[in-house]
Amino acid sequence: MTTSSNPPNSAAPDQTSGMWGGRFSEATDAFVAEFTASVQFDQRFYKQDIAGSIAHATMLAKVGVLTEAERDDIIEGLSTIRAEIEAGNFEWRIDLEDVHMNIESRLTQRIGITGKKLHTGRSRNDQVATDIRLYLRDEIDDILGLLERLQKGLLGLAAKNVNTIMPGFTHLQTAQPVTFGHHLLAWFEMLVRDTERLQDCRKRVNRMPLGSAALAGTTYPIDRAYTAELLGFEAVSENSLDAVSDRDFAIEFNAAAALIMMHLSRMSEELILWTSAQFKFVNIPDRFCTGSSIMPQKKNPDVPELIRGKSGRVFGDLISLLTLMKGQPLAYNKDNQEDKEPLFDAIDTVRGSLMAFADMIPALVPNIEIMREAALRGFSTATDLADYLVKKGVAFRDAHEIVGKAVALGVAEEKDLSELTLEQLQQFSDLITADVFDKALTLEASVNARDHIGGTSPKQVEAAITRAHTRLEQLYA
Ligand code: ARG
Repeated sequence: MTTSSNPPNSAAPDQTSGMWGGRFSEATDAFVAEFTASVQFDQRFYKQDIAGSIAHATMLAKVGVLTEAERDDIIEGLSTIRAEIEAGNFEWRIDLEDVHMNIESRLTQRIGITGKKLHTGRSRNDQVATDIRLYLRDEIDDILGLLERLQKGLLGLAAKNVNTIMPGFTHLQTAQPVTFGHHLLAWFEMLVRDTERLQDCRKRVNRMPLGSAALAGTTYPIDRAYTAELLGFEAVSENSLDAVSDRDFAIEFNAAAALIMMHLSRMSEELILWTSAQFKFVNIPDRFCTGSSIMPQKKNPDVPELIRGKSGRVFGDLISLLTLMKGQPLAYNKDNQEDKEPLFDAIDTVRGSLMAFADMIPALVPNIEIMREAALRGFSTATDLADYLVKKGVAFRDAHEIVGKAVALGVAEEKDLSELTLEQLQQFSDLITADVFDKALTLEASVNARDHIGGTSPKQVEAAITRAHTRLEQLYA
């Protein structure tokens, strides 16, 4: 019903211009064909392209545009092509430009004239937009699975380190003692937000552009809701012009990916510091490290370093997509073909980085004694001494001043506050009594005192881990 006089049941055209040859008087220049092609990178969503075509053909048969026999031939042909691709027996042709035309051309080669009917009521513009959304939806689900695994790994390590004390830093200077479990839960929170962002982004990915055709819709009596249902889309796009040109969903994903990488990069930075000979807080097992070709002693934290490095390219991918879109008039422009590589690169990089982290985190070995010793240096309990005085009636600013003087003495004598004698401390305030050592100046007293939701005390960290497991269940329900 699509054409009045069908051309002979020809095999696939030799050149791309065969797909639109009617209007052209010469073949596409070989360099131009290569330059404008996307098959080198868009073949990665062949599966989604075939699924989209099967759903489209099924819908066309439902509304009477294709016969049931034609539909069945198309579905069988496409399924065989999928098997060919998966077996590595498919010849991808640059002259056929992209994944869509490669598959369609092969379909026609296999099943003849019926293959030429598949594209009825459809354009590559709505087809490609549909394919990327299907592809990204699958990738988001995979990435969410990796995030969940990493989050569980963090909770496992945190549970073993509820009582492990380390220095907490501000300005990378010793600030106050914290528990290692609490620090790991801070990482966990970053990843919770990343999960929420990806889940939210997925909602807008999961809308179907198919049916928008080139830009204005199509003259066939299509049933978009039916196609959407077949493909598992939550809704159909509302406006055909917007649907074929919109790449917000890819930008949103890349923004979420950039944040994930920024978080992993911050964690990496800490791991790199912590594994240095100067910190020695944590040991990364050898299987995640490499050595030096010249310095025999070296064991380098390559995985975190590489992830810190890779964050930059994902930020770049986000900027590429934003820049790609900013000047485009409605509706589809060939510029949009450039959406794929930055999106794929962000997907691959985030996926690889998360996989490495998910494997590495449960394998980390904290040096508990070294962390504790580090927390004893740098006057980490100075705030606790000030709080001790406040509880005895001193105004906080005055307490701050008093403790500052005590710290100055400690610096001069090269002693921690807990190593000064009671008499030495009492020079600064006679409110200081012997209980100061137990109540304020031990690491345990310091962390135990921060006993409220969000605080670092072992009791709170324990409770936070329990809540975190429940939150994970709800998040990934
Ligand atoms: N390969 C193209 C892309 O990735 C498919 C859409 C082409 N549409 C067109 N009107 N030339 O965007």
